[in-house]
Amino acid sequence: MRVLLVGSGGREHALAWALAASPLLGKLWCAPGNPGTAEIAENVAIAADDIAGLVAFAGARRVDLVVPGPEAPLVAGLTDALAAAGLRCCGPSAAAARLEGSKVFTKEIAAAAGVPTAPGRYFNDAAAARAYVRDQGAPIVVKADGLAAGKGVVVAESVAEAEAAIEALMIGGKLGAAGARVVVEACLKGEEVSLFALCDGKTAVFLGAAQDHKRVGEGDTGPNTGGMGAYSPPPALTPALAEAAMARIIRPTLAELARRGTPFRGILFAGLMLTEAGPQLIEFNVRFGDPECQALLRRLKSDLLAALLACADGELADFDLRWDEAAAIAVVLAARGYPEAPRKGGVIHGLREAARVEGVEVFHAGTARRADGEIVAAGGRVLTITARAPTLAAARASAYAAIARITFEDALYRRDIGWRALLSPPR
Ligand code: AMP
Ligand code: GLY
Repeated sequence: MRVLLVGSGGREHALAWALAASPLLGKLWCAPGNPGTAEIAENVAIAADDIAGLVAFAGARRVDLVVPGPEAPLVAGLTDALAAAGLRCCGPSAAAARLEGSKVFTKEIAAAAGVPTAPGRYFNDAAAARAYVRDQGAPIVVKADGLAAGKGVVVAESVAEAEAAIEALMIGGKLGAAGARVVVEACLKGEEVSLFALCDGKTAVFLGAAQDHKRVGEGDTGPNTGGMGAYSPPPALTPALAEAAMARIIRPTLAELARRGTPFRGILFAGLMLTEAGPQLIEFNVRFGDPECQALLRRLKSDLLAALLACADGELADFDLRWDEAAAIAVVLAARGYPEAPRKGGVIHGLREAARVEGVEVFHAGTARRADGEIVAAGGRVLTITARAPTLAAARASAYAAIARITFEDALYRRDIGWRALLSPPR
C-alpha cells in the first residue's frame, strides 16, 4: 500500500508511527510532515491545505490511500477532489465535514436525529440573539458558526458577557465570516470527554475515548489552546456510557447523514458532556484530536492501516478493533508564549534519551531541523511526550521522567496532565 498522510503536527507523527507498523504498508509520504515524520516517512513539501497539489501528487505516485490529519482540507473538499480523480481517502466529503465546519449544521442534524444536546437556537441577527440571551439568562453559551481554531466559543457566566460575545462576533467581525452566524445554547454541567468513532458511511466502530486539557494553565486555568495534554481511557466514560453515546449520538448522526445523501466516512470525534441525564453532544469534529490521537494510538493493538482502508471502502461492518488495557498519556511541550506568541528557535536536546524511558514515545509537532542538524522549536506546540503503562499514574510518571531528560529552555508544559482522573498532583 502506498499511503499519503496529510498534516504536520504531533497527531500526524503519531499516525505515521502507527501506519509504519502495518505489514500492509509499502511506502509512506507525509505532506508536509515534520522532522519526526521524516524519520519514518518521506516528507513532501506540499501544504496540508493545498488541495490541488495533494491531488496531483497522489495521482502521480499512484497513492492507494490518503489519510487526512487536520480538518481544514476536509472542510475545503480534499476528499471530493481526490474522489473526482479516482483516488481513495479515509476522510469525509466537504458536505459531511460540515459537522465540524458549521455549528448550525450540527444543531440541525442533532435535532433531526434526536441526538441529546444542549437546547438552543441559531441567529443571523445580533439583536435577536441578544434578546434570546436576555430571555434565557446566564450561564449561557455563545458559539461562532464556522471554524475558529478554538476561539469561537464563550461560556458566559453573565448576560452581559454573552451580549459582549455576540457583539464581538456579529458586529465587530472578530472571526470574520465564521462569526456572522451564532449558536446560543444552554450551559451543560458535567465531566467532558472526547469519544472517537471510525465510520464508513453506514457503520460506526468505537475508536476509543480520551480526556484532554484545553487550558494553558495548571488546574485547567488560563486561555484555551489546541490542547496541552490528554489521557486514555478516561475513567469517567464507563463502557456503559460509551455504548450509550455510540447508540444515541454517533449512530443516529451517521444514519441522518446517510439519509440526506451525504454519508460520513472517516473519524467522527464527539465532544461529550457526561450530564446527570447521560452523555450529551457538545460538538463534532471530523478528525482525530491533537493530542488525543497520540494517547489513543498508543493503546491501539489492531492494524491502523487495515482499519482506515475498511473505513474508506465501506467495509467496517465486520471489523473489530483491539485495544491495550493499559493507560496512555500525552503531555504537550509547547514554546514559551504559547498560545499568543510562542518563541521560535529554541534548541532541543535529549529526545533520544527521553524515548529510552520505558513505555515512552516522543512525537514531534512544531519542530524544525536546522542546517547544522539541531532540532529547534518552530511552532506553538513543539513536542508530544507519550507514555503507556498498566496504570495512568505509572504512565504519567514515565512521561514526566522522559520530559526531565529533555533540555529545551523555552519549554512551557503542564505538570498536572491527568489530574482529573488521578485527583493528585504528580511527584
Ligand atoms: P470548542 O472550541 O468548540 O472546542 O468548545 C470549547 C469548549 O466550550 C468545550 O470544550 C466546552 O468545554 C465548552 N462548551 C461548549 N458548549 C458548551 C455547553 N453547551 N455547555 C457547557 N460548556 C460548553
Ligand atoms: N485537542 C482538541 C482538538 O484536537 O480539537
